[in-house]
Amino acid sequence: MAGMSGKASDYKLFWREFRQTFETTGAVLPSGRALCCELARHVSGNGRPRRILEVGPGTGVATEQIIARMGPQDTLELVELNDRFVATLQQRLETEPAWRQAAQRVRIHHLPVQQLAADAPYDAIVSGLPLNNFPATLVAEIFAKLREVAAAGATLSFFEYVGVRKLKSLVARRDERRRLGLVESLIGDARKQWGFGRRCVMANVPPAWVHHLRYD
Ligand SMILES: C[S@@+](CC[C@H](N)C(=O)[O-])C[C@H]1O[C@@H](n2cnc3c(N)ncnc32)[C@H](O)[C@@H]1O
Repeated sequence: MAGMSGKASDYKLFWREFRQTFETTGAVLPSGRALCCELARHVSGNGRPRRILEVGPGTGVATEQIIARMGPQDTLELVELNDRFVATLQQRLETEPAWRQAAQRVRIHHLPVQQLAADAPYDAIVSGLPLNNFPATLVAEIFAKLREVAAAGATLSFFEYVGVRKLKSLVARRDERRRLGLVESLIGDARKQWGFGRRCVMANVPPAWVHHLRYD
């Protein structure tokens, strides 16, 4: 990708991964800045060192916002299953000034989040996972894993595109409609139990809801 700016090459990579690995990439474009800022809203704390987890960072658009909000003793762990995205994240840690400054406190786990074995609980979790693409059993497994690795009082911020389930349901076959209904219930149950806010980010393509949960 010689000659392309970092952003343009990230878009190109994202588009390629969307076509090749649709179920896990789940979007045509990386999230826009407004969406990433909303996702990173709760990562900073009150001065005590915080352990931050990001799952599904892709090319690192939300990671950039998390790094900008990290305190000097905070640590960040990234969990990404896609080889090409992991290589991009590693390269950014080696070459981009803001990333290099934090690099000693950032660790990449190259695996699906379901397999994450955390050394200690996390204080803030940001998820870019395309939950509406996954089988309901996987969504349940991921919610259980995030609950397992979260400290008491930890936040989880995640997004979904506005109206995506309704739109998909309109054209879907019966088994797909059933899957979407189950995913909707799982997200709804998590929000009912731990939700403390959600925001609609219209300045994104497509617009997205960001859900914020706080575990007890
Ligand atoms: C919709 S993209 C989001 C990328 C980026 N956070 C953004 O907002 O543009 C979803 C990301 O989740 C990753 N992913 C999907 N399933 C995953 C899993 N089970 N564990 C870890 N990462 C996963 C994909 O490879 C991809 O990078």
